[in-house]
Amino acid sequence: MAKILVNNSGPLHGEVWISGAKNAVLPLLAATILTEDSCVIEGVPDLADVTVMKQMLENYGAHIDDSEEGVIKIKTPEVISCEGDRELVQEMRASLFTMGPMLARYGKVVMPMPGGCTIGKRPIDLHLKGFRALGAEVDIDEENEVVTVTAGKDGLVGDAIYLDFPSVGATENILMAATLSKGTTIIENAAKEPEIIDLANLLNKMGARIKSAGTDMIRVEGVEKLSGCIHEAIPDRIETGTFMLAAAITRGDIMIRNAIPGHVRPIMAKLRECNVGVEVMPDGIYVDARGRDLISTDIKTLPYPGFPTDIQSPFMAFLTTVDGKSVVRETVFENRFMHVVELNRMGADIVTENREARVPGGKKLKGAKVRATDLRAGAAMVLAGLAASGTTEVSEIYHIERGYENFVGKFKALGADIMKIDHD
Ligand code: EPZ
Repeated sequence: MAKILVNNSGPLHGEVWISGAKNAVLPLLAATILTEDSCVIEGVPDLADVTVMKQMLENYGAHIDDSEEGVIKIKTPEVISCEGDRELVQEMRASLFTMGPMLARYGKVVMPMPGGCTIGKRPIDLHLKGFRALGAEVDIDEENEVVTVTAGKDGLVGDAIYLDFPSVGATENILMAATLSKGTTIIENAAKEPEIIDLANLLNKMGARIKSAGTDMIRVEGVEKLSGCIHEAIPDRIETGTFMLAAAITRGDIMIRNAIPGHVRPIMAKLRECNVGVEVMPDGIYVDARGRDLISTDIKTLPYPGFPTDIQSPFMAFLTTVDGKSVVRETVFENRFMHVVELNRMGADIVTENREARVPGGKKLKGAKVRATDLRAGAAMVLAGLAASGTTEVSEIYHIERGYENFVGKFKALGADIMKIDHD
């Protein structure tokens, strides 16, 4: 079982280049199903989740050329199957993001229900609500845990859809389906993440007619057909936040390049509240925590533009090392404190109650054997290991490799004493 070993590394120093955003690239790749023409997606990180998405698309009939690093050329001249692969869906929930484009392109999609995962049951009711609103028939086979969605005989027809929660995936799925629907679709209480805007930019390049993506009301005028395009994915704001916290937790200084400051405002604001130096430079974000008296702060995760849930666990790891109590509230997922047990193995003494974690702070963490309980929690454990005394052994690191490109290599380049071991 592969593991990451981390030793106390002292203050990290240097610069890091942020890769393309996993949570942008996955829907961008799914959207290429919407046309028979060739699409080129650039800025694609080398991630396990990208590999899964490519396999999903190839199963539908996509021809993929990924011979050039960071670039995926993809063309789906004909749909040869409308069935999602159960193993791939279980491996990656974002496989669901192919439902909307498949429904719009082919008129039918058969998708195994995604397993829950460690951060909550993660239903898909809002996705299905959107498809129904566009006139599709939704058949849920509870016994076999498969959902079949079929467009009406006249194809999809635009309508107004209110999302009870600004779900990122549901917004993206409905947005993609609406591009080829007849008439107008309005998505109310839509998610406003930068990845939604990036997807809308790609779709509009393909000939879609989308207005106000990035606001809570997105308007789509359906069109007959979409064509190919070339599009570069936005950089990863969650990877950006992770390396900002690497500077903070090790009391070092890191220049983060290829980052978009406007995508990480809540993280910059909260680090500044802790007295960490954060400076927006012409070509990056400079984070400096050297020799500063840091103070604690409280965190509450919210849909964008609020504090991102994906940075909750890395920020909590940092707060354990800062003098002063802090409270971390997780409002987006119902079970995203699995990393607390792991941090407590290192001496963090965190207490949780429902969606609230009370962090006493001021701890000298001690190295321990810990698990990565989800993608971002895995990163949080590595951050904790950098600051802890002794050695920290992080297992179940496949989570980390799903969403961070060259994770160990980027930390090594910043002076981290870190290595990956492929087996015991
Ligand atoms: C996306 O997941 C991201 N994944 C997640 O990142 C991120 O944490 C999440 O958005 C929130 O920002 C990708 O983009 C691939 P949601 P998604 O639908 O779309 C509930 C990472 O680490 N909900 O916005 O699945 C749901 O249960 C991952 O990169 C419903 O109730 O998130 C959750 O409580 C982790 N019904 C909340 O909404 C639905 O139909 C937010 O989920 C859909 C969602």
